[in-house]
Amino acid sequence: TFVVTDNCIKCKYTDCVAVCPVDAFFEGPNFLAIDPAICIDCALCVPECPAEAIFQDSELAPDQAPYLAINAELSQLWPNITEIKAAPEDADEWNGIPDKLPLLER
Ligand code: SF4
Ligand code: F3S
Repeated sequence: TFVVTDNCIKCKYTDCVAVCPVDAFFEGPNFLAIDPAICIDCALCVPECPAEAIFQDSELAPDQAPYLAINAELSQLWPNITEIKAAPEDADEWNGIPDKLPLLER
């Protein structure tokens, strides 16, 4: 499966959802999660993310490992998203800020 990681938090550009052929993205208040049971590992979403926040599970940096379980959990709780929407006004200011996990809203 592919995994949405830390840099999506408070950026949430949503470009990723438009290219997913199986609609695997689910939307929370300030983050998206991929359902690992739906993702077919096509990798189409990776280059679409302006925050470079999507990685294959096998290629996660060690400090991003918790996001595997976070995606699996939150994708079950949140509604599906299939169309691009406007990013938060301050998305660009948060792009690249490390360690945003404490800011993740559920
Ligand atoms: Fe969707 Fe492909 Fe990204 Fe998986 S890797 S979430 S199937 S676009
Ligand atoms: Fe997040 Fe990147 Fe998609 S910031 S919403 S994973 S385009």
